[in-house]
Amino acid sequence: MYDETQQPARGRRYLGLLWALVPAAITGGLYWFGREYTPDYAADFFGKQFADAQLLKAQMGTALLGLAAVQVLLALCMYGVIPGPDRYIPTIHRVCGVLAFALSLPIAIHCIHAYGIPLGNTRVTIHAVAACFMYGAFAAKIIVVRHRRLPGWALPVTGGVLVALIALVWYTAALWDLNNYSVPGLE
Ligand code: HEM
Repeated sequence: MYDETQQPARGRRYLGLLWALVPAAITGGLYWFGREYTPDYAADFFGKQFADAQLLKAQMGTALLGLAAVQVLLALCMYGVIPGPDRYIPTIHRVCGVLAFALSLPIAIHCIHAYGIPLGNTRVTIHAVAACFMYGAFAAKIIVVRHRRLPGWALPVTGGVLVALIALVWYTAALWDLNNYSVPGLE
């Protein structure tokens, strides 16, 4: 029998499912775009090209990893694992998060513009695909922060996955570039 009281709960479930689709759509959309796009290897990056552009991107990517590390420390403070002033930490965490996202954007735009998503080399494939997932994880993190009804483990798990993906994206391109075109375990 039709029960009107079940409507709001069912509506919330469908809404929750829609939110879960956002990170998947971002990851898939970026991958599709990167595969379809015709790259321009000479693409400009803040007035630099080729090796100069690569070096600047690698340095900015390293700053992004640094910000991700700061975010982990701030999160540990908020969870009481390490001591720190309660009052300002959430605001600093939010500002650093926005900065990290803003810093990543020009690098990612140049990557897609200059290379698209080529799948010929393991390291490059891991880098490009991990970066697509990284933006899906960025979205998932924001969604989880905003949805207070989710279980307590959801936030540290999405935050941890995001930081791990940032580290992987950095390892497979920025470190490779700064370390004379080599990283342990990958060509
Ligand atoms: C969806 C987003 C992204 C895609 C599809 C992508 C893809 C690529 C590809 C295909 C390369 C060429 C690798 C090579 O030939 O060695 C590359 C290089 C690179 N990427 Fe990304 N990337 C993305 C986001 C990022 C982000 C967020 C960072 C920040 C750490 C980053 C940092 C770098 C660096 C430092 C290089 C080496 C410099 C260069 O070759 O220009 N990428 N990326």
